Order: sequence, then C-alpha cells, then structure tokens
Amino acid sequence: MCGIVGYVGKKISIQKSLIDNLKALEYRGYDSSGIAYVLDNKVNIVKKAGRISNLEENIKEDIVSNLGIAHTRWATHGDATDINSHPHKVGKVTIVHNGIIENYLELKSKLIKEGYTFQSATDTEVACALLDYLKKQNNNNNLEVIKEFQTYIEGSYALGIIFDDDLETLYATKNDSPLIIGLGKEENLIASDVSAITNFTKKYVIIDNKEIIKLSKDKVLFYNNKLQEITKDISEVNWNIDNQDKCGYDHYMLKEINEEPLVFRNTLNDFLNVDDFLTKMPNLNKYNKIHIVACGSAMHAGLIGKYIMENDANIEVLVEVASEYRYKKVFYDEKTLVILISQSGETADTIASLRKAKADGIDTLGIVNVVSSTIAREVDHILYIKAGVEVAVATTKAYLLQVLMLILLNLKLQYDRDLITKDKLQELLLDLKKTPNYLQELITDEKKYSAIAKKIYQDEDIFFIGRGIDYAIGMEGSLKLKEISYIHSEAYQAGELKHGTISLISDKTKVIAIITDKDIYLKTISNIKEVKARGAYVILITIDDLINDFEFANEIIKVKDINKYINPLLAIIPLQLISYEVAKLRNCDIDKPRNLAKSVTVE
Ligand code: AGP
Repeated sequence: MCGIVGYVGKKISIQKSLIDNLKALEYRGYDSSGIAYVLDNKVNIVKKAGRISNLEENIKEDIVSNLGIAHTRWATHGDATDINSHPHKVGKVTIVHNGIIENYLELKSKLIKEGYTFQSATDTEVACALLDYLKKQNNNNNLEVIKEFQTYIEGSYALGIIFDDDLETLYATKNDSPLIIGLGKEENLIASDVSAITNFTKKYVIIDNKEIIKLSKDKVLFYNNKLQEITKDISEVNWNIDNQDKCGYDHYMLKEINEEPLVFRNTLNDFLNVDDFLTKMPNLNKYNKIHIVACGSAMHAGLIGKYIMENDANIEVLVEVASEYRYKKVFYDEKTLVILISQSGETADTIASLRKAKADGIDTLGIVNVVSSTIAREVDHILYIKAGVEVAVATTKAYLLQVLMLILLNLKLQYDRDLITKDKLQELLLDLKKTPNYLQELITDEKKYSAIAKKIYQDEDIFFIGRGIDYAIGMEGSLKLKEISYIHSEAYQAGELKHGTISLISDKTKVIAIITDKDIYLKTISNIKEVKARGAYVILITIDDLINDFEFANEIIKVKDINKYINPLLAIIPLQLISYEVAKLRNCDIDKPRNLAKSVTVE
C-alpha cells in the first residue's frame, strides 16, 4: 500500500504541489518516497529511502513546476532503497504506482528480450518499461498506449504517468487500487485519497477500474477502457480536513483516543431516536446467519459483534479474517448477511471478500469510516462510522466505533426478530447515550496507565487472557501493544492457557487479565490464580465492585459496570492508553510504527 499524488496547472513550488500533498498520504506507507517534476522541458527525479523528510533534504526549496508526480512507498517488491523508490522512468515514460503487478516477472522477461534492462527490483519499473515499449511500437497517442497497457497487466494499480512528448499533461488510470481526481481552478490533481488534495480543492471525482484520465491545467477528460469519453459525478469533501494536526498532543494516537467521546456521540446521535434508528438501519429479519469479514482490529471488533449477536439475537455469527475468507470454501446462501468492517474501506483482502460474496449473490453490509471508499461504494448497505480522519496507523477511535455500530446492529437484529419491543429498543439506545461520559472519565485517568506502563515497558513477552467477549477485547489490547511498542504479546482464551502455553509463564511474567462479563468471572479468576501460582504479575481490568481484594491481581483497573454492551467498550480504553504509554517509554514511532501502513491495499 503506497500513496501517489500528481499535479498539473500553474507553475508553483513543488513543495506545495507535491511534497505537502504527499505528507498527507505518509500513513499509507513510509519506507521511501520520491518526486518527478517538469523543469526546463524535461522530467527531473529525486527519490530517497526513508521518510519524506529525507527526500525534502535533497530538494532545493525554490523549484517551481507546472507538472509533477510523487510517491510514498510501503515496499512490496524489493527493499526500501533509493533505486527501488518511485517515480520510475524508463525511456520516455515516468510513473508512480500503488498496487501489485501480479505478472511482472513474465512481462519483465519479454521486455528484456526486447532490449530493456532494469535497475530496480520493482514491478513498477516493469510497468513503466511496458508503457515505453508500447509507445515505441505503435507511436500511438498516449491514451491508446495506456488502453493497450491495460490488456497486458494482471494485478492492481493506480498510476500517475508523464510522457516526455506531452509535458503539459498528466495521465492516470487504475485497477483495484484507489484513485481520486482533484478538480481545481487552473490546476488539477490525482491522489490515492482525498486527504492529499484538500489544500487545493474540495471537489473530487472517484475513478473506477480501467478508466483513463487526461488532466491538463484547464481541463480533465475521463475515458472508459474503450476510450469513449465519459462524464463522472463530482463530490465535495464534507469533513474538516484541517483537523489533521495534533492539536497540542504529542501524537495523533493520543489525540484520537481523546476524540473518542466526541466521535462516539457524533456517530450515535444519528440513531438515538428510535424512528431515525429504524429508518437508517437495514432490514435484517430475512437473515438466519451472519458472516463478519475484516482484518486486524476491524476483525477484533467483529469478534465482539459475534458474542453479542449470538447471545442476544440468537443468530449464528462466523468471524473470519478476510485474507482467509476470500479463498476458503464458504457456506452461505440468500439468508446469510456478509458484514465487511473496514476503517479505510480500501483493504485489499476485505474488498476481495466483498466481491466474492457479491459474485455469489450474497447480501453485503459495510461498516466503514472513509466516505466513498471502495468498500463503501460496493456493499449493498453502508453504515458509516463518524470517526473523522484517523491518522495514527494503530486504530483506536475507529475500532471503538466499529464496536458501537455492531452493538446497534445487534439491537436491530433483536428488534427484527421480535426479541425486543420498540419501547425497549428506545430505552437501550438511550442507555448508550451516557457512554461518552464514562469514556471521558477513563481517558483522563492517564496517570494510572503510565504507572502501569513503567512496570511492563521493559518486558519482551506479555500475555492477555479473557473468556468470551473478554478474550475478544484481549485480542485488540494485544495488537495495540505489539504494533506500537514492538513487545511480543499474545491474547489467549483464559481457559485454554493450561493446554500448553502456560509453560511460558514464569516468575514476573506479565499477564493482563480482562473480566467485564459477570456471568463467567469466577472461571477467569481461577485462571488468574493458575498463572499467579507460577509467578505471573497480573494486571486485571475489570468492572466496579466485582473484585476488590488484591489476592488475584498485582494491579486492578476498574471500569464502570453499565451493561454487557458498554462494559467491553469501556475496557478497551485502558488497553489503548497503556499501550500508548509503553510505546512512549520505549521511544517508538507511535503514529507510524515500523513495517506498518494505515491502509493495506495489497494482498
Ligand atoms: C490496527 O491498529 C491496524 N491499523 C490494522 O490491524 C487495521 O485494523 C487493519 O489493517 C484493517 O484496516 P481497515 O479497517 O482499514 O480495513
């Protein structure tokens, strides 16, 4: 998953037209970056491994240009080196690319036979050479070249393309990777997502697969893959993008945790009134089975959905990671609803799972944050969470709202299956209304989390245990900790630990136990005793007045006991903040952890 931007228009500083836009996409990948810009009638390239700041150190400030493309990379083919960075230029063609060319090796060997040599290990350089080869072969116009290029390529791409023979025009095309066009005044842009164009315009167009776009200073032309000119809907960015600064917080992650009460309220408000709720929620009474498909934290949210829907709505729920679901034999039919959860709406494996279900005629519902993203546009029903822009790679507020949306769907399922009345539904909706206050209380309790962090930040192995929904919370707590602090951790069903893994528990091993479900707390307590008997240092996250003596735990963090829906929502806050404090003590790059990217748009 990489980020691409492009600009064509007035002669302006390349810092403004390319670098600043690129920074908005750095969350998509940041192991190398580069720019290509037109100056003195030729294409100039500067590209460096490392963060965009490395690139900036190699660019003279005062360069102005009318045309350029830029790229920030998450390496898929070839190490993060200068030579493997984009843009790539072969012959008379320069490109930036987001995606994976599946058949690049086959194309590479054919192009080598045609006399091409390759400097990098990337699939992108092969794609660039193919464009140059097709240009030479047919001396077609550049649109024809791109159209023919598409017939050779298998795989995903969003491309920004500059041809040496047309230095007033920027070309773009895509297949399965996101691409939007920004429509400005005497300037037009391409980008992987809208966050990279808003310093120029709020008007954007979403590009569909195999469409080809020709952008110049005053005109943008859209073509289908037969090169027939088409018209496209113009959308407007409807959120306040300038909240993309840290507002005084040390990190975006901390800012976004502190936004959780507000975004919870913003998302819930649309559903508080029972009539609004019934209008906005899809009709669910025809389904007798639910599949929840997602990746990472979104899948962990799905696990919470599973527990509450099976318990309350009495419906079977399968939760699968998308990278497995898309290839496995799946048992679904017209009475199955496939729910896809995705903050970005661009996760490749989740998109593939969506398309698999749709190809089989199965109803799909999306729980998505980014408006007009691929998943949001392709599901049969869309439920948007209103997390706003989430910049930190480690998701916090979006995950919380994914769980909220599943709680609301669970209420709708119960209503549609005549398990609760309309009055009861309204009562439960209003119950949720108080949650932001409880979240706020927990968030302000920061001192407690930093005290606990000091006791665990030098550990190299930390275990999370819980039963049922508490295990699902532990899964998310474990992922938060490892992805930003690089401490190895794993979440285990508390009852399963003694079937082998307990052999890893020794003196002072840190174990974070979670108990929010009153129905099975005594069982988890016995598991806590098992690990404590082997020397573990137990940090217990539980609900008020359930457990008071410290016989079972070295540390206890309490959350309010509200109800079985809200309790898990509250328990995740300490886990997010403990992970944050640990990562800070370990001087990790909290907002952009190594090897990660915010949106995994490759398989
Ligand atoms: C979690 O902190 C990660 N950012 C990651 O697991 C993420 O949840 C996963 O990649 C899914 O992303 P999506 O919600 O955009 O599909």
